[in-house]
Amino acid sequence: MSNSHRDADEREALRPMSEAQAPQRTGEDREHWTRYAEEWLAWARAPNHDAFWAYRNAFRDFVGRGGGDALEVGCGEGRVARELVRCGWRVTAVDPVGELVRAAAEARSAHDYAVATAAHLPFPDGRFDLVVAYNVLMSVDDVPAALKEIRRVMRRGGRCVISIVHPFADRGRFAGAGPDAPFVLEESYFGRRRFEGVEERGGLRMTFAGWSQPLEAYAGALEAAGLAITALREPIPELGEGQERLCPWTRVPAFLWLATRPVAC
Ligand SMILES: C[S@@+](CC[C@H](N)C(=O)[O-])C[C@H]1O[C@@H](n2cnc3c(N)ncnc32)[C@H](O)[C@@H]1O
Repeated sequence: MSNSHRDADEREALRPMSEAQAPQRTGEDREHWTRYAEEWLAWARAPNHDAFWAYRNAFRDFVGRGGGDALEVGCGEGRVARELVRCGWRVTAVDPVGELVRAAAEARSAHDYAVATAAHLPFPDGRFDLVVAYNVLMSVDDVPAALKEIRRVMRRGGRCVISIVHPFADRGRFAGAGPDAPFVLEESYFGRRRFEGVEERGGLRMTFAGWSQPLEAYAGALEAAGLAITALREPIPELGEGQERLCPWTRVPAFLWLATRPVAC
């Protein structure tokens, strides 16, 4: 499961690449999302189209209500920011892609906006009570740099809530279409790999690309940034209308959610 909103029946479309095939270039993440911003707008705004909608209520509960200052890093067209506003947060939404930030602003998704990458946030130290990175870190070229910068803009008692594609789900696939199909791990769980590919469903297509890496890589980057994991969820999708295809993901976690807090120095 090598991208942010991958569904069980679409997994064949994405091609993992080995690390050797995919040398890292700075800015590759922003370039990719700039190129495919229009696809993402249509994909993310189609109601019940991707997995977001099946996890939305649980994620809202995980974040919780609050009246403080929240930052969403990698906001895309703004749907997570809109949920945070609904929960009472005063939200600043940032994304490196100007077209997506403009779309988020047009939809009145947040209170403030900025065009910025996670590794260069245009805010002073200790500015936010909450930072949310929802299905963003798999796209980010340099996760350790992003988490250090996120830590910098967090208040002393603040919280950073992260959703990623579950690193275990990322490396396997269901061997069949049935609800009991075995989940098969392909290749090694370990190592950092580039993924890229196209998903198509319901007349929409989305071109995903990013990095698949094991849980220890994320945990190591959090540790280096001075962020301690205080809560962890392996959420199960709500199989409402249009989401029946996610049934296999009630047996294997598709996503991993982490709440983290700054470690006292
Ligand atoms: C899968 S979308 C998620 C958007 C939104 N969080 C949501 O769930 O609807 C990934 C987003 O990460 C953004 N992104 C890519 N590289 C980034 C970086 N280095 N820093 C911050 N955001 C980045 C992309 O522009 C894109 O909007």
